[in-house]
Amino acid sequence: MTTVLLEKKGHIAVATVNRPKALNALNSQVLEDLNEMMDQVCADPEIYALVLTGSGEKSFVAGADIGEMSTLTKMEGEAFGKKGNDVFRRLETLPIPTVAAVNGFALGGGCELCMSCDIRICSDTAVFGQPEVGLGITPGFGGTQRLARLVSPGMAKQLIYTAKNIKADEALRIGLVNAVYPLEELMPAAEKLAETIAKNAPIAVRACKEAINQGLQVDMDQAIVIEEKLFGSCFETADQKEGMSAFLEKRKHEPYQNK
Ligand code: CAA
Repeated sequence: MTTVLLEKKGHIAVATVNRPKALNALNSQVLEDLNEMMDQVCADPEIYALVLTGSGEKSFVAGADIGEMSTLTKMEGEAFGKKGNDVFRRLETLPIPTVAAVNGFALGGGCELCMSCDIRICSDTAVFGQPEVGLGITPGFGGTQRLARLVSPGMAKQLIYTAKNIKADEALRIGLVNAVYPLEELMPAAEKLAETIAKNAPIAVRACKEAINQGLQVDMDQAIVIEEKLFGSCFETADQKEGMSAFLEKRKHEPYQNK
């Protein structure tokens, strides 16, 4: 991988989109490297949570690569959208929890990338937006769908139709991010959050992710059944036995084993 760095820190991993000269814009190579990064993360059973950020102090990801897109035909445009959507959908449904640490511009494909993570926190320098209609296109890596689901449909439509960017405080106000930190405190906060998650029983955390993600796609009667099945799947695991025994024996549980 040349455009995505992956660092393992105990039971968490930090992936960094690394194309700083282009403000980490997403060209085909970055999309392929994000896929490769996810292959590596999924192949390592010791990684319980993933943090995703951008290289440098200015940008998380400034969007899909406008140079690469500028000459595409209709068919090539659709194929490029599919390429990005496949990668982002894979990220959204990655078995382990994901935290986006948005350290600057999160525009177009960058906003869409962070919306494909489970949790978003950002620096006070972060800027979010879907500027695509100003370039003559629609958001193409899930922005029309995920923004409307994450904030209200009316707010998503306003952001997308106007192509106006918003700052971190507004992103917090509309619920696009969960917290805002000074830039130098962002990565420590993101890693601490991921480590806190990673200390809980990994099988249970993954089941929660699956239950929430799948349940949101169906009606409540079906959603509750999804939860029941995933709730049941946690029983008889070593971590469930240890977690409950520790409580009953009034002791701290041993580190969870992901078993
Ligand atoms: N694609 C390609 N290159 C990009 C880029 C992008 N999305 N964003 C920035 N760059 C490049 C610039 O071309 C520039 O390269 P050069 O030094 O070779 O000229 C370099 O990154 C630095 O950028 P700027 O000089 O423009 O930096 P700035 O601080 O003046 O402005 C910015 C920063 C406001 C983010 C500005 O770069 C910008 O507006 N970028 C484009 C943002 C955008 O429109 N993103 C959406 C793309 S469309 C999309 O993402 C579709 C989709 O949904 C899939």
